Amino acid sequence: MAQEELDLDTPTQALTRAEAEAQAGVLRRTLQRHNYLYYVEAKPEISDGEYDTLFRRLKALEEAYPDLVTPDSPTQRVGAEPRDDLPTISHTAPMLSLDSTKEEEDLVRFDERVRKAVGDPVQYLVEPKLDGASVELVYEEGVLVRAVTRGNGQEGEGVTENVRTISSVPLRLRDEVRPVPPFLAIRGEVLMYLSAFRALNEKLVEEGSDPFANPRNASAGALRQLDPRITAQRPLDLLAFDVLSVTEVEFSEDREIVEALGDWGFRVPERVALLDNVDGILEYHQAFIRDRDDLDYEIDGIVIKLNDLASRVTMGSTSRHPRWALAFKFEPRKEVTRIHRIAVSVGRTGVVTPVALLLPVEVGGVTVSRASLHNREEVDRKDVREGDLVRIQRAGDVIPQVLGRVEEAGKERGPAFQMPSKCPSCGTEVVERGPFTVCPNQFGCPAQLKGRIMHFGSRGALDIEGLGEETAALLVQEGLVKGLADLFDLKAGDIMDLPGFAEKSAENLVQGIHNRKRVELRRFLHGLGIPEVGEAVARDLASHFGGFQAIRNADREALEAVDGIGPKMSEVIHGFFHEDHNSKAIDEVLSKGMDLIAPSAARGEGGSMAGKKFVFTGGMESLSRPEAKKLVEAAGAKTVSSVSASTNYVVAGENAGSKLVRAQELGVKVLSEEQFLELMDEVNPEDEGGEGVVG
Ligand code: IVH
Repeated sequence: MAQEELDLDTPTQALTRAEAEAQAGVLRRTLQRHNYLYYVEAKPEISDGEYDTLFRRLKALEEAYPDLVTPDSPTQRVGAEPRDDLPTISHTAPMLSLDSTKEEEDLVRFDERVRKAVGDPVQYLVEPKLDGASVELVYEEGVLVRAVTRGNGQEGEGVTENVRTISSVPLRLRDEVRPVPPFLAIRGEVLMYLSAFRALNEKLVEEGSDPFANPRNASAGALRQLDPRITAQRPLDLLAFDVLSVTEVEFSEDREIVEALGDWGFRVPERVALLDNVDGILEYHQAFIRDRDDLDYEIDGIVIKLNDLASRVTMGSTSRHPRWALAFKFEPRKEVTRIHRIAVSVGRTGVVTPVALLLPVEVGGVTVSRASLHNREEVDRKDVREGDLVRIQRAGDVIPQVLGRVEEAGKERGPAFQMPSKCPSCGTEVVERGPFTVCPNQFGCPAQLKGRIMHFGSRGALDIEGLGEETAALLVQEGLVKGLADLFDLKAGDIMDLPGFAEKSAENLVQGIHNRKRVELRRFLHGLGIPEVGEAVARDLASHFGGFQAIRNADREALEAVDGIGPKMSEVIHGFFHEDHNSKAIDEVLSKGMDLIAPSAARGEGGSMAGKKFVFTGGMESLSRPEAKKLVEAAGAKTVSSVSASTNYVVAGENAGSKLVRAQELGVKVLSEEQFLELMDEVNPEDEGGEGVVG
């Protein structure tokens, strides 16, 4: 059945199953093609209305015959359930980073090294360096089976369901122009367009949430959402630029890779060029600096890669980056504007920070109106005053740096800046700590309380929508919140009459706070604002101890048993938990009915599967790889892609390959599909079986 023959008029109920199946197949391919034409080629052939008609028909067929749903169906982009935590997954091949420089000299030396190692002539593939979040996408038999963030380069977080929501990502590789390999792992960059980024930030501010500092953070944040439905609302795109691993295809040049990626249906970076000398590269670099502000996405330089793949092998890699590539970065963007006022703000730790309020100026597509001056010594050193003209620079963030003053001949300047002697929030006499000025009224200062509330609700902590700076300030000012625990007692009626609120928004905030009583342990820990405990340390503590009380009661020795925690940190953390105010405040928060979710590895603790590593090889009869993976993760274990001595189980299906051989060599336990399912049944007893193995 071809597309022209699609009979969309017959009601779905009147079709035989065979007819429905055939029609669903055609619809899927047709929709895939139009999706590609729209999102990748930007050359749609049908109207949105026509697309919707086809889409609704496929949806109706799949509803009538649920077993017709395939993972690559265009209807399956959004819909996965939110999860508690993102699984850790090893990459198919290490995701190295790039050596980078801003200096022309380094480029010249790089070129010399390359020529010395591989001999003339040399060809470079040059393309923009996209400033987004790097991901690996894996396709088996042409179907997207997993997506993993770069993480530490060896393993990252599984974000498959989130990546599926990105419209330009093929759920199935195109095979119209080029055959599809049995296995393909590619690398690309997830981006948020500047226009979308600005709109998102405006919306966040309107809702009372904190805006993102830059599009990179915004895309990384969207990518790591636990709820794919949120990711789906964030306009993301993915550009592919490398093949990490592929079977049954041989490439000899990078340009063939770029071409193949395009043929398989990916968007690829624009203006990819083949250049053979430094002058050409410098010209290319200059052209991009000129055009950079006209692009709707951030690039932070260009990437220069040896085009010939055999020569790459000759040059090799260090442990961190390949010797055959170089990122030639741009200087941060600079602008000149005037300081109209220097304000001081008090953060949650009591540090009083001078902030330059600027006449708004556009720097690389983003409007900038304030810049931190950091501390007293920094202001003195730069000698900036109210009314001064200053040069500012924005590297990638919306929040820029003040580089220094621009001299204005003959202009009379205002008085030098003086730090206030009293806290602008509570009036307590400030104290000097090194270059910093601090309000010592830790538990009575409204500004510090506001800071703690904001931090508690911030993105890396409880992530409470609508609890941004303004709202936190209002809650403190109105006396509604005197400590973190009070947040959980807020009633919509208390808030709805505050400026900027109405009934609905007040209810949303109260509900939003209530919903976050159940939250990951690491987020809660981070939200407490323990000195020295950022997101990474909070995560380490959570997975090491597995429960809040264990962390709270840990002595210094126990704390130091956590990787990365030394004597200084253990002292601060231990001190924090044993300080009376903190201890009481924590008890109060806990008494509101917090339900802290331990990380999955720890959750399985006591169970035998926690932290165990599974490798799959060959095909299975009764379940797909993603389904098998879900089972493994539900047991607190994880799947990795290659067999090593630390692998616990290799599950060998039909036509198992070299991984099975390797497992036998290393003496790793090998399970058949049946044995694997039995094992999973034992450890995941709550699984109802019946309707397929995964819910
Ligand atoms: S090539 C082995 N090409 O920049 C290195 N990387 O540290 C292969 N990036 O996170 C990378 N645009 O994801 C390459 N056109 C491009 C890129 C690019 C952005 C990212 C990459 C990595 C970072 C380099």
